[in-house]
Amino acid sequence: MTEWWEREDLHFRDGVLTFAGRRVDDLARQFGTPTFFYNSRRIVANVERLRSALHEAGLGDRSGIKYAMKANRFAPLLTHLRGTGLVGIDACSPNEVEHAIGCGFSAEDISFTATSLSNRDLERLSRINGLSMNCDSISTIRRWGRLGPGRDIGIRVNPALGISRAQNEKLQYSGVNTTKFGIYREQFAEAVAVAKDFGLTIKKIHFHTGCGYLTAQLGIWDSIIDSCLWFVDQLDSVEVINVGGGLGVPHVAEDAPLDLTRWAGILAGHFRNRPQSIEIEPGDFLAKDTGILLLTINTVEKKMETTFVGVDAGFNLAVEPAVYGLPFHPVPALRLPGDCRTVTIAGNINEALDVWYANIAMPPLEEGQTLALINAGAYSSAMASNHCLRGEFKEFLLT
Ligand SMILES: Cc1ncc(COP(=O)(O)O)c(C=O)c1O
Repeated sequence: MTEWWEREDLHFRDGVLTFAGRRVDDLARQFGTPTFFYNSRRIVANVERLRSALHEAGLGDRSGIKYAMKANRFAPLLTHLRGTGLVGIDACSPNEVEHAIGCGFSAEDISFTATSLSNRDLERLSRINGLSMNCDSISTIRRWGRLGPGRDIGIRVNPALGISRAQNEKLQYSGVNTTKFGIYREQFAEAVAVAKDFGLTIKKIHFHTGCGYLTAQLGIWDSIIDSCLWFVDQLDSVEVINVGGGLGVPHVAEDAPLDLTRWAGILAGHFRNRPQSIEIEPGDFLAKDTGILLLTINTVEKKMETTFVGVDAGFNLAVEPAVYGLPFHPVPALRLPGDCRTVTIAGNINEALDVWYANIAMPPLEEGQTLALINAGAYSSAMASNHCLRGEFKEFLLT
């Protein structure tokens, strides 16, 4: 393995890119582009890596994983995950809950955490028996309590501390700036009082403070847990602590992967002597490196000092590079002989931000060639839009 992103199920062999045991140029020839391919084995391997780290840290018996389906809700992928019996679901809208149930999960497998819920949303959710509801505002606690007094609930809290890859503010859900997510310390007593008014028992404390964190951010992760345990200690009814998702994967060669042993060790340090069980709800960590997006190069042209490589899909099919500045590394399906040169990979949408990767050294690229964008398994197809009426794509789960 020579490239930073190569691994057993994604690598070059004699200049030919293979993914999930298939030649990538062959996948493009058979199914066309733009197309997402997901490796069913990789997502399960990612679940297993997380489970082993928790197990080795002594948390195996009292931790559970809820896959954040907002990352990728492709039905065959969800059905496949359900079949493993290893994960539940984190859902954030009534439609997500119904979709998860349609893919074989039961309501009891689902932890629900959402924001700005309407009465119509709450009424729909209220009819689903067994759903684990986490309220992220006092208004939601009150309206949920009116619909069904006496139930168990979770409360999403906001520790005013955030975490993300390279501390990218766009990926933080909590921090210096006040956000819409969760209940702050300053409002917590009121939230508890409103829950009491409706006979609701607060069984879970939930926090999710940002996305994409890696080893470099583990110190902040430690402080966030510490600060969220303040909320747990205000109550004697909490049985579950949901520590959210946010675990990241490398996007560039310089990103040190998340050290799962250290990550789980930090959790164990906080929870070893506590009675509560732990929930984790990762999306990115499980799904992102499971997927690639195949594109066809249609234009290679030098404009002033920049060589642009135009492809047949734009940021509307995978918004993270343009919106969050998270690069998706491009890899040619066939590595042509010759020296690398610096190019800019651009999409087919009429917007200046529609650049997949600026100034990257790539082996020779030609019009008609297939290009793979790695790390396209999360927050890509799930967030795709039909902007410029260029919303068409295909998706396949490779088994
Ligand atoms: C409440 C909640 N949980 C979990 C996640 C999953 O985050 P990630 O994909 O970064 O693990 C999100 C993402 O937005 C979220 O809002």
